[in-house]
Amino acid sequence: MLRVNGADRPVTDAWIGESLLYVLRERLGLAGAKDGCSQGECGACNVQVDGRLVASCLVPAVTSANSEVRTVEGLATDGRPSDVQRALARRGAVQCGFCVPGMAMTVHNLLEGNPAPTELEARQALCGNLCRCSGYRGVLEAVQEVVAEREAHADDAQAGPETDEPRIPHQAGPGAGGVNPSAFEPQPPPDARDATGPHDPPPYGDHGDHDNHGQDGGHA
Ligand code: FES
Ligand code: FES
Repeated sequence: MLRVNGADRPVTDAWIGESLLYVLRERLGLAGAKDGCSQGECGACNVQVDGRLVASCLVPAVTSANSEVRTVEGLATDGRPSDVQRALARRGAVQCGFCVPGMAMTVHNLLEGNPAPTELEARQALCGNLCRCSGYRGVLEAVQEVVAEREAHADDAQAGPETDEPRIPHQAGPGAGGVNPSAFEPQPPPDARDATGPHDPPPYGDHGDHDNHGQDGGHA
C-alpha cells in the first residue's frame, strides 16, 4: 500500500526491488513523473516523499510504504494547475515538456523551504534537472513570478477582512431610484387642500380662486 497525493493506493504483484518511479507509472498509472535516465541524473522523475524531493528512479518503492508521496499529479487543485505550473507555461519553459513535471516538483519543493529564493539559490535547486530544449531562463523567471504572486497575495491577506469583501456598488431599493419619496405618500383629497391657510402656497398647478381672478391673475 502506498499513500500517494493523499489517497491510499494498493500495489499488487510488485517485485520487492521495483523503483518508486516504476510503481507510480506502471502499477498506479501515474505517468507524470518521467523516466529520463533511470540513474538519478536528470530530475525528470522527481517526487516528494514525506516532503523531501527525491529521484523516484533511485528509491525502492517498498521503502515508501509508510510515507506520504506527492507527485506532479498532486500539485493541481480541483483540476487547476498550480501557480508554479501556470508560471512555467506562461514563461515558455515548456517545449517538449519531458522535463517539466520534474521541474515543477523541484520548484515547489524549493519554495516550500525558501519562499523567496535568489536567482543563485533557484539555479542551485534546479541544477539536478536537465532540460534539453527550452533552457532555464523561463524556469528562473517562473520562480520569481510565483514568488511575487505569493507575496502579493500575502499582502492582500494582511490588509484585513474589509478588503476581502466583494465590492458591490450601492443600489437603490425598488421604486426609489431617482424618484422623490414623497411621490409615494398618500395625497390629501382636494377639499383638504382648500382648507390650507390663506398664506399657504397653493399646490403645484393650482392657481387658486378662479371665480375671482381670471387668467390675468385678477388684476384686470
Ligand atoms: S529518471 Fe530519475 S533522475 Fe532521471
Ligand atoms: S522542455 Fe524539453 S526537455 Fe525540457
